[in-house]
Amino acid sequence: MSARLDRSESYKSLIHRLEPLLAGESDLIANLANTAAEIKDIFGFWWVGFYLVKGEELVLGPFQGPVACTRIPRGKGVCGAAWESKEVVVVPDVHHFPGHIACSAASNSEIVVPILVKGTVVAVLDIDSIEFDDFGPEDVRYFSHIARMLRPKFPLP
Ligand code: SME
Repeated sequence: MSARLDRSESYKSLIHRLEPLLAGESDLIANLANTAAEIKDIFGFWWVGFYLVKGEELVLGPFQGPVACTRIPRGKGVCGAAWESKEVVVVPDVHHFPGHIACSAASNSEIVVPILVKGTVVAVLDIDSIEFDDFGPEDVRYFSHIARMLRPKFPLP
């Protein structure tokens, strides 16, 4: 319970830090890089980063954490599922997700949030945790909010 309360406070502080940071910069890569850094800094998740839609693939963008897979085909893995469904995908145990792409053996749960511009997915925010079942409704809500904050930084698809 107290861990959850701490996380709520952390989200408020994260949004507080991101608002001026994003408002003061229009460059996409700069904003994605700082957003990944803020999320990693506040929560310490194992891996925090973005994949950008490029043609029929997701291509690795700014991230914080260990080296990751660079290209994910449409529909593949958790990221591909979020891209295809246009919905947030929460995976409590990645070892039981069919087609999960294991960039790192240390990851046990994952959340992937699509970023939509005019109804088209232009990128996904991917967060991996070493804890099982680390993401719930509050995480979906806040990371979806952050995805919406980033939307105006993308060129129109
Ligand atoms: N696990 C992801 C791949 C990206 S890494 O986690 C950084 C997936 O299944 O889409």
